Amino acid sequence: MMNRRKFAAGLVASAAFRPLAKASDSTPRFEPNWKSIGEHKVPDWYQNAKLGIFIHWGLYSVPAWATTSGELGKVDPSKWFTDNAYAEWYLNTLRIKGSPGYEHHIATYGKDFDYYQFAPIFNRNTAKWQPDKWASVFKKTGARYAVLTTKHHDGFRLWPSAVENPHRRSSEITATRDLAGELTAAVRSAGLEMGLYYSGGLDWTFTEQPIVTMQDLMARVPQTEEYARYADAHWTELTDRYQPAVMWNDISYPKAGKIPELFAHYYNSVPGGVINNRFGVDFSDFTTPEYAKYDKITEKKWESCRGLGYSFGYNQAEGPEQVIAADKLVWLLVDIVSKNGNLLLNIGPRSDGSISEIQMDRLDKLGAWLAVNGEGIFDSRPWVKASSSPDVRFTRKENSLYAYVQSKPGVGSLSISGVRAVSGTKIRLLGSSQDSEFKQQGQELVVSTTRSSGPAGYAIGLRITPVPESV
Ligand code: GLC
Repeated sequence: MMNRRKFAAGLVASAAFRPLAKASDSTPRFEPNWKSIGEHKVPDWYQNAKLGIFIHWGLYSVPAWATTSGELGKVDPSKWFTDNAYAEWYLNTLRIKGSPGYEHHIATYGKDFDYYQFAPIFNRNTAKWQPDKWASVFKKTGARYAVLTTKHHDGFRLWPSAVENPHRRSSEITATRDLAGELTAAVRSAGLEMGLYYSGGLDWTFTEQPIVTMQDLMARVPQTEEYARYADAHWTELTDRYQPAVMWNDISYPKAGKIPELFAHYYNSVPGGVINNRFGVDFSDFTTPEYAKYDKITEKKWESCRGLGYSFGYNQAEGPEQVIAADKLVWLLVDIVSKNGNLLLNIGPRSDGSISEIQMDRLDKLGAWLAVNGEGIFDSRPWVKASSSPDVRFTRKENSLYAYVQSKPGVGSLSISGVRAVSGTKIRLLGSSQDSEFKQQGQELVVSTTRSSGPAGYAIGLRITPVPESV
């Protein structure tokens, strides 16, 4: 159990970082055991949010390079780490002699250039960064939360940690600006929630051997007592300094880590907080398919994450061939939401904090679509079914059903199968100021459309009130 005095002091010291989710008198105090932690309920804000922005930013954003061999899940797993498309894995790829990443590094920086020599460059470049600009981009995109990598697998920390690393000098592995704190403050003042990512399972300042095979992945989790205390101290520091709305751990956690203590302390500090499923324990608030999604309504809350391209960290080798098209991105979000998921969409900014044109373009287009069609996305819940045909998805909110239809340019009517309108039904195209005409044809609702409600080729949203019968 945590010390009340310390809790109060923590709140005062970090008032600027207070999350939107507030404690209430009825908030239970959590104890460091699985029974107590298991009572935690997923808060409404997270169920309602639907869209978050994931940010991978760190030393790897300086070289910003990886191969473009393919998306996770679409590449032969035995080749994944050698030919890794994840630019944030730069140091691991560099440790694999003869890999494309190794060759790239030698050719660009020379064989004596140690990865941690990127630290002063990163620190210099981040001096230009304006956190408020990011916050307003996220808001304009329609996101309700953001999640920042505070320490990725390379061990570099985006906050002024007081925790000593036994293998590297603090200056080599710590940002000079409090990037996590400044972004937290900016995101919160834009009215969004702020979550933090931390790589608990991997820290390459503690290991020298590269990960080459899938079996290596778990074998490289440092299992020393020293590392367990290091990771515990980091998560505690992040909780106390920033009260993140999301505790987003990666890969797993050292076996000697004090996970129930961390979770209880976190929930007691951040009553509206949520914890992901990558601590390697049975308990979580949500699951995290990566470059993947579920194909049916899944009762347990889930959050799919992916980069706009094949990488999370900025990869300057990526172009339009790798970056998801705007219409596909819109449909991805609709599909995920219809099945009870959130989309945690990743951007990989450059080391100076600028966001590439192609990534900005996708955020802009998604934001423009959501500005018209977001009504049935945000705060919605899945209906009794997610779809009735490959080009239709449903969500439900209050007394309405929302049907999103992958638009076909030039059609004068849209047909939605598997629904029967009840008497007094009104149907409106989102973004329109008038109701649409419709007729019921057997199990099909045929709605006339005079125009598409969003940019051509993107999904069209319809509000059907009251909720029709499912047939
Ligand atoms: C992975 C990767 C990583 C990325 C992440 C996002 O496990 O190792 O580079 O940060 O998950 O989901």
